[in-house]
Amino acid sequence: MRKIGFPLIALNFKTYAQAFGENAVKLAKIAEEVSREYGVAVMVAPPVVDLARVVREVEIPVFSQHVDPYKPGSHTGSVLAEDVKAAGAVGSLVNHSEKRLKLADIGAVLERLRENGLMSLLCTDTVETTKAGAALGPDMIAIEPPELIGTGIPVSKAKPEVVSGAVEAVKKINAEVHVLCGAGISTGEDVAKAIELGAEGVLLASAYVKAKDPKKVLSEMAETALRR
Ligand code: G3P
Repeated sequence: MRKIGFPLIALNFKTYAQAFGENAVKLAKIAEEVSREYGVAVMVAPPVVDLARVVREVEIPVFSQHVDPYKPGSHTGSVLAEDVKAAGAVGSLVNHSEKRLKLADIGAVLERLRENGLMSLLCTDTVETTKAGAALGPDMIAIEPPELIGTGIPVSKAKPEVVSGAVEAVKKINAEVHVLCGAGISTGEDVAKAIELGAEGVLLASAYVKAKDPKKVLSEMAETALRR
């Protein structure tokens, strides 16, 4: 797997009004500043249209939010692994709960990413789907109970057994896979709890993208991530 650090704070910009176009660059630059100040690995996943624009402005890892399971050809409107690579991104989220794929397509997307030397962060929703996902050999898995997404109720506190269960399950299936968790992660303590449960990082969106002071929120997370 290409170089990426752990513990990792992965920031999914989704398609929030605060997170596309020049705003995607602003949020990515803040993420890079915090990564450098605290020495914590931070990755950003801007909207696909903004990938190249963001890659040009930061050196921290940039991921696509999605890739389709196709090779180059007549697939109007799809997102190709080749194009994500050409934009300078180093990986992609796969099967996010807001961009679900069929199981067969997940395997195909992971293969397309591997063929293009891109990292994969596979999103799952339960310990059972995490087990199935781990068997497909992604670089990373983020378990995210959909009902907590966007609520500000952190999975690491509301459903700790989901995080620890996913970590234990993946270790038994494929110890190479790094397990993160996401959904409602909002404070440094949420990050610390996730790491205490065995996760190697977190995947979050609204607490950072919609924050009045994104740098303050991310700095607090970075500080606690290092403490554990
Ligand atoms: O991809 C991360 C995202 O689904 C979690 O959303 O807003 O609860 O951090 P949020």
